[in-house]
Amino acid sequence: METIDWKNLPFGYIKTDYNLRSVFKNGKWGDIEVSSSEYIDIHIAATGLHYGQEAFEGLKAYMGKDGKIRLFRWEENAKRMISSANGVVMEPFPVEMFKEALFRVIQLNKKYVPPYGSGATLYVRPVLYGSGAEVGVKPGSEYTFIIFVTPVGPYFKGGVVPVNMIISRDVDRAAPMGTGTFKVGGNYAASMRAIVAARKGGYSNTLFLDAKEKKYIDECGPANFFAIKNNTYITPDSKSVLPSITNKSLCELAKDMGLKVERRHIEVDEIESFEEVGACGTAAVITSIKTIVDPDFGKTYNFCKDGNPGPVSTKLYNKLTAIQFGDEPDKFGWITVVE
Ligand code: PLP
Ligand code: COI
Repeated sequence: METIDWKNLPFGYIKTDYNLRSVFKNGKWGDIEVSSSEYIDIHIAATGLHYGQEAFEGLKAYMGKDGKIRLFRWEENAKRMISSANGVVMEPFPVEMFKEALFRVIQLNKKYVPPYGSGATLYVRPVLYGSGAEVGVKPGSEYTFIIFVTPVGPYFKGGVVPVNMIISRDVDRAAPMGTGTFKVGGNYAASMRAIVAARKGGYSNTLFLDAKEKKYIDECGPANFFAIKNNTYITPDSKSVLPSITNKSLCELAKDMGLKVERRHIEVDEIESFEEVGACGTAAVITSIKTIVDPDFGKTYNFCKDGNPGPVSTKLYNKLTAIQFGDEPDKFGWITVVE
């Protein structure tokens, strides 16, 4: 293993020792097998390649001060992967097998779990795709599940430094009755034109609006959107955003901290009235937003005027990460220790 600079890890791929695989064939899932190869052999007519029969997940393993490795609400990821599989008509990977693969892949790559205090984590990426051959547009009869890990630093450069976002009206990530609520590759492919344009303009990412009316906020690239106003945590109610496990947890933490929680439509015009805004997700954790630019209307909304995340976002960030790293008792029952 090459020396890893844990404190300066990007959110990128680093080779680890093992990944696990299982194939659904002839009506059943095969044994979970260990592989040390980073490559797969894939049929040239696989439905995952041609018709986007693919879904993935993202979760993290956290090293605690006590040397224990913790997972955060992993069952939610297992269940969401089943929902995503159903969303693009793939064979779902059972929760029990997901658990076995998840725990084994972490145990096999234990030395890649970044040390406590480095700010880095071990990112776990389960992926499921249609591996059977079809040429007509229909679900395949063979599916492959793979799970690999890679140590990562913060998704947004600078970690907790607030970022700039640009509103995208000319690219939609997902249609209202489309696949936005599923974690399928096609949504990310659809978002890339907007993300590349945003980065070119010097922005960290894109704020997508609802595809139908372009009136309401949907989400921020690979993360959900939230805002704070009048002691209230507000997050979009939308049929085209990914149901974020982080966001759901923040709603509970906010309630527990005495805030009101509102899941409702958020009109773009309302941005002006917010005290704090941010992006949240497994990779993003809580990333505060400093500026939202709406180029079509020549508007710029500014937050974090002192350059730092706001007080409520900071409190939520500290609370969430303290639970994830095991610094605080897990009173919500969100943590599983990987023995
Ligand atoms: N929205 C999108 C589009 C995402 O890719 C992610 C990441 O998984 C999220 C939101 C955040 O979801 P979670 O908190 O479950 O990681
Ligand atoms: C995550 O937050 O885990 C994600 O999956 C985001 C990813 C698309 C980078």
